[in-house]
Amino acid sequence: MTKGIVLRKMGPEDQVWVKDLLRERWGSPRIVTRGRVHKVDQLSGFIAEDQETPIGLLTYRIDGDACEIVSLDSLQESGGVGSALVAAVIETSTKHGCKRLWLITTNDNITALRFYQKLGFRLVAVHRNAVDASRELKPEIPLIGMDGIPIRDEIELELRIDP
Ligand SMILES: CC(C)(COP(=O)(O)OP(=O)(O)OC[C@H]1O[C@@H](n2cnc3c(N)ncnc32)[C@H](O)[C@@H]1OP(=O)(O)O)[C@@H](O)C(=O)NCCC(=O)NCCS
Repeated sequence: MTKGIVLRKMGPEDQVWVKDLLRERWGSPRIVTRGRVHKVDQLSGFIAEDQETPIGLLTYRIDGDACEIVSLDSLQESGGVGSALVAAVIETSTKHGCKRLWLITTNDNITALRFYQKLGFRLVAVHRNAVDASRELKPEIPLIGMDGIPIRDEIELELRIDP
């Protein structure tokens, strides 16, 4: 792991920080994927810290033999924080016997598409116009996203896990 980054499990004491971070970065502590609303502070997660200062958060949910990354935020980009958090969730899903680690990102998020593909994730589905339905559940989702790209589609990526 990159020097200085320490990972720990998210706990009840982190709820305020987690909710504030999600509000700041995603407009709300609620994340919508595939028509499901996730209250991120109620999920499992990992927090990355540098000298006890939080610099990243990943939340996930295990359902049967699949693990979904629900949110991922790095507060110190290009320093290995995001990769370290994904490595931690790969380890946890492997321990739980998961066969698939998956996530949803939106069509505007070119950074995430690049990031996950470099880590071995594959694009497995484009859910066209799925964000229209998500907006009904979470009206805070903006019409225009990163790089001025209209946010329309949910893109599903997955990493198959070999036991
Ligand atoms: C996507 C995201 C989580 C990546 O986090 P990150 O901390 O920048 O990720 P990493 O540092 O591990 O990897 C990013 C890059 O840094 C490089 N890198 C990794 N470790 C490094 C290190 N020790 N030193 C320098 N560079 C490093 C990686 O190779 C990668 O290179 P690339 O820019 O050419 O792709 C981050 O950009 C983010 O928070 N984005 C906004 C929220 C978001 O979109 N989340 C995902 C939605 S599901």
